[in-house]
Amino acid sequence: MTVQDQIGFKGTYQVSNEFAPFEHVVVYPGNCLDLLRTIPDESLQLIVTSPPYNIGKEYEKRLHLDLYLKQQEQVIAECVRALSPRGSICWQVGNYVDKGAIVPLDAVLYPIFARFGLKMRNRMIWHFEHGLHCNRRFSGRYETIIWFTKSDDYVFNLDPVRVPQKYPGKKHFKGPRAGQYSCNPLGKNPGDLWVIPNVKSNHVEKTEHPCQFPVELIERLVLSLTNEGDWVLDPFLGTGTTVIAAIRHGRRGVGAEIVTKYVGLAKQRIEMELQGTLKTRPMERPVYDPVEAGNSLTVAPWNKEAGQIPLFDGSKK
Ligand SMILES: C[S@@+](CC[C@H](N)C(=O)[O-])C[C@H]1O[C@@H](n2cnc3c(N)ncnc32)[C@H](O)[C@@H]1O
Repeated sequence: MTVQDQIGFKGTYQVSNEFAPFEHVVVYPGNCLDLLRTIPDESLQLIVTSPPYNIGKEYEKRLHLDLYLKQQEQVIAECVRALSPRGSICWQVGNYVDKGAIVPLDAVLYPIFARFGLKMRNRMIWHFEHGLHCNRRFSGRYETIIWFTKSDDYVFNLDPVRVPQKYPGKKHFKGPRAGQYSCNPLGKNPGDLWVIPNVKSNHVEKTEHPCQFPVELIERLVLSLTNEGDWVLDPFLGTGTTVIAAIRHGRRGVGAEIVTKYVGLAKQRIEMELQGTLKTRPMERPVYDPVEAGNSLTVAPWNKEAGQIPLFDGSKK
């Protein structure tokens, strides 16, 4: 039985090319602005995306920062119009890099969201271990997710995304509840520092797309910021990750992707998800710790008892 069957998302839905309120899964092959213009006002509960960062990836033309921000503003304007009054927008971004100088994209995008009257609820730090090695600055090992709501009355379901407590056995030691367990048995709030592996070469979800986000990152947002049956949109869909996270939990998913080969990849992965065959890293799996796992490569050869490895074999120097 697939997850969709278990939670009432029965039957295998067709992946539609065009948005209509009665659909369940939509992948629009084209520009997100064209898709957004077909979506009625206030009809989406969550909009989550990782837009192009304007750093010259194969799917983007590097633009002057001001022009890039103007283009983002056009998309954000349409998103705000289509967002439900209790809805949320999450923009996942890193840095724009100009001749070695970085511009944190969340900082320059924040004023745009604020001008539309949105309220920021969190700026999550997404920390991961793998990425480019820098020589002239510290290697970047986090990106951010800026989360905004349209009003003060917004959907926020904490229980489905709680994580294990550090000290579940801890008890109140004084007062009227002395002797009772002090923490929530469902787990604790995951906080705003999210340690989740990014999708690099040996990640189970890796495709040929250069910057997928992991499904588990979006599952946390879908579960906490939407209810079953709600619409979740990703205007820059890439390989379909957002739609996959949405339909996995009985939500409806819609996204736009402009590059034909990624549209194909997104559709293929979504079909696999609908059939229950897509392999992803589970949300509850702890981050791999090579030392704990006894990986022999974690022992530096030059620290072995045998002493220093001979670097100049036979040489008098
Ligand atoms: C950072 S990637 C998103 C990857 C995605 N989060 C995933 O998990 O696969 C941005 C994507 O936006 C697409 N894109 C760029 N401009 C677009 C536009 N105007 N409309 C729709 N898609 C666009 C790019 O082709 C690229 O696949």
